[in-house]
Amino acid sequence: MNLVLKKPESNSAMEQTATQDLFDAAGVLLLKKGQPLTAGIRELLEKREVYIWRKGEETVFSRRQVKAFPRDVYFKLVGSLWSIYHEAKLIGAAQIEQTVKLVETILKELHTQNVYLDFDAIRLDMEQIKEHDYGTFVHVMNTALLTVLTGMRLRYTEKRLKYLALGALLHDLGKLKVPKEILNKPGSLTAEEFTIIKQHPLVGEDMLNHTRLVPSVRAMVREHHERWNGKGYPYGLSGSKIHMDAQIIAVTDVYEALTADRPYRKGLPPYQALEMVIAWSGQDFNPRVVQAFREFLILYPENAMVTLNTGEIGVVVAVPTQMPTRPLVRLLFDSEGRFHERETYLDLLQDLTRFIERVEFKEAE
Ligand SMILES: [Fe+2]
Repeated sequence: MNLVLKKPESNSAMEQTATQDLFDAAGVLLLKKGQPLTAGIRELLEKREVYIWRKGEETVFSRRQVKAFPRDVYFKLVGSLWSIYHEAKLIGAAQIEQTVKLVETILKELHTQNVYLDFDAIRLDMEQIKEHDYGTFVHVMNTALLTVLTGMRLRYTEKRLKYLALGALLHDLGKLKVPKEILNKPGSLTAEEFTIIKQHPLVGEDMLNHTRLVPSVRAMVREHHERWNGKGYPYGLSGSKIHMDAQIIAVTDVYEALTADRPYRKGLPPYQALEMVIAWSGQDFNPRVVQAFREFLILYPENAMVTLNTGEIGVVVAVPTQMPTRPLVRLLFDSEGRFHERETYLDLLQDLTRFIERVEFKEAE
């Protein structure tokens, strides 16, 4: 059954009795048409937590209790990862052991799955601790968080998730041996520089030669730049010849890289990066992985304050499951900063000229 969130009828029509059958978000009937409205239902109506059933509509809205990934834990994780690896030449058992501890923290924080990863805000804070060379480690940490959540969505067992997280934390080790001038070079790379970059998956695998890691972890390091259509590197593997864990990190790695600021360009807004990843599904990426990725990724948590490209400010009311990049927004201020006296809603699915430029999310205490 498709449930469509619809603005409640005008209050006068709803004053005495329900003019239509009313449901909750899970599709459970709250009140039959014609029955008197109770105080409880009226309160739900005011909070827009009541749904009506409309035939033939495709839009399904999801409602999820979301928590933000705690920043203090995030910074600790990146700091630890940095101190374990920043001068690593070869990797030993002790380093892997320390990394497994980070994996445990990550799994503990993500277990509810409904976690909002506010990388934009975190990256802003990062500016203050620029004295460290955190770039690769921030990328690796973000990718690991996205990878674990995708694995959870794909119903990975606890054990497989641990290896998945470990592989994600190790996947770009080879980059530590790529000269920084190449990694951070503004503008396009020469053919020679690109050849050097393309070696990092195999260089990374070499660095792990002294450890006893399961094959899937090595595969993630070696194959994370392979592509579903066979156009990746280093071997040009395609489809299911690429290890499933590496197919996951292929998606999360690209999404993270698209949204990150580079010395030569600003990161894309998350909705745009997600739309690109979706567009590349079936070409660069396994469609099943992209599907899982888009299902867990929370771009706009409910109640998040958003600023639109027009300068209007509003609050996210509901997110369509099929198109999470285009939520329903209750507008609070117009582009001149004037408060909307009347309840005004903007359905971004209907208006493609407007989009969200900035998100601010604070959990309710
Ligand atoms: Fe990489």
